[in-house]
Amino acid sequence: MESITLALAKGRTAKSTIALLEKMNIEFEDFHEDSRKLIFYNNDKSIKLLFVKAVDVPTYVEKGAADLGIVGKDNILEAQADVYEMLDLQIGKCQFVVAGKQNTALGTNQTLTIASKYPNITKKHFQQKRQTVETVKLNGSVELAPLIGLADFIVDIVETGTTLKENGLVILEEVEAISTRLIVNKASFATKSASIQLFIEKLKEALE
Ligand code: PRP
Repeated sequence: MESITLALAKGRTAKSTIALLEKMNIEFEDFHEDSRKLIFYNNDKSIKLLFVKAVDVPTYVEKGAADLGIVGKDNILEAQADVYEMLDLQIGKCQFVVAGKQNTALGTNQTLTIASKYPNITKKHFQQKRQTVETVKLNGSVELAPLIGLADFIVDIVETGTTLKENGLVILEEVEAISTRLIVNKASFATKSASIQLFIEKLKEALE
């Protein structure tokens, strides 16, 4: 059977994903989260693991640099990548929200300034609401933006709610539920069908 390349997102969900792979008897002996190594192989070398930034996983998969990717729905939506989304891994569960300072309202005829790590998702959400917005793309610590007048509101993911709370912000609107997904390169799905189907079956079993 052909070997497959899997792009795995660094960060919060990496540990749970590796645990799930172990449940499938796929083990990467020399893998540990703090390693600076970026490529790992499982014992029988049937799977090559690329350990990459979450935001880049959809690109690796769309371009065929990886056959499979495991990454959050937030990054899949933002990348607008042309890939197959096959399974919900039920980990990394969180919510996309619009948040802002207490006692602020979203409804207005004026253009709103929205800070986000996810400008595409932000634009799409407000387009659907027919609200004109200007987006400010940030790469982190987005909660700061409304506090210092850089933006009126933010669109971001919320998991425990701690970051919003500690910065005096509140959820004004829930946009979409997010979790970690398995994505597949479209060409690989045809050319490496047997290996990919086997991987999906084993993953389904591990999820049960
Ligand atoms: C994410 C997100 C929020 C926070 C939400 O940021 O952008 O800031 O986590 O989590 P919580 O609801 O559990 O507090 P991340 O930790 O990735 O850091 P960043 O600000 O550097 O993007």
